[in-house]
Amino acid sequence: MSVQKIKTAVLISGRGSNMTALVDAAKKDAEFPAEIVLVISNRPDVLGLESASKRGIEALAIDHKSYETREAFEDELHKALSDRGIELVVCAGFMRKLTATFTRKWEGAMINIHPSLLPKYKGLHTHQRALDAGDKEHGCTVHYVTAELDSGPIIMQAKVPVLDGDTADDLAARILVEEHRIFPLSLAIAAKAIATKAIATKAIATKAIATKVTATKAL
Ligand code: GRF
Repeated sequence: MSVQKIKTAVLISGRGSNMTALVDAAKKDAEFPAEIVLVISNRPDVLGLESASKRGIEALAIDHKSYETREAFEDELHKALSDRGIELVVCAGFMRKLTATFTRKWEGAMINIHPSLLPKYKGLHTHQRALDAGDKEHGCTVHYVTAELDSGPIIMQAKVPVLDGDTADDLAARILVEEHRIFPLSLAIAAKAIATKAIATKAIATKAIATKVTATKAL
């Protein structure tokens, strides 16, 4: 039996190395539970959009600067996702804060990667902050997106050591390898959760219809 593939979109803002890691992992495994069908960047002309196109994936720029308000930008984003029947959204280096109105619409169906061992170092400049604090280890986290920034339920984390003489760039490079490793694993978990929920919902609906038919027959 072939696996149910959850229709997935990836949101990016730049280079897109996490996005390509996800796309390549999904394509390599016939049983992977998600299919990435769309990549959206809030910045046009980024390398990530080019990489997505080269891989035969629809690559769309929705430039946040073209919208007067955050809400107007998000309405367009939501429309693009809904129009294509997207079931799961992955933020992969997407550097735009999302409003609670938007995150609520995608609750349980939107995940993000963050370059720190959450709950430590929410927000920006995580590598420098770990160095400044004298941390001996640092890492990355994949989590569900909720209204509060970098705070939703954690799916997976990976740790790396902080070595003597490390710069923020050294740490970023060491952690990126781990990001590319745990992100596809986490995407598979999130996609399976959605597929399971969909099967359960269908079963409940089918049972409800069956009950109604039986009740009608009994009349
Ligand atoms: C990653 O390190 C991610 O954790 C952070 O931004 C970076 C994006 O890199 N939020 P890329 O665009 O996936 O190459």
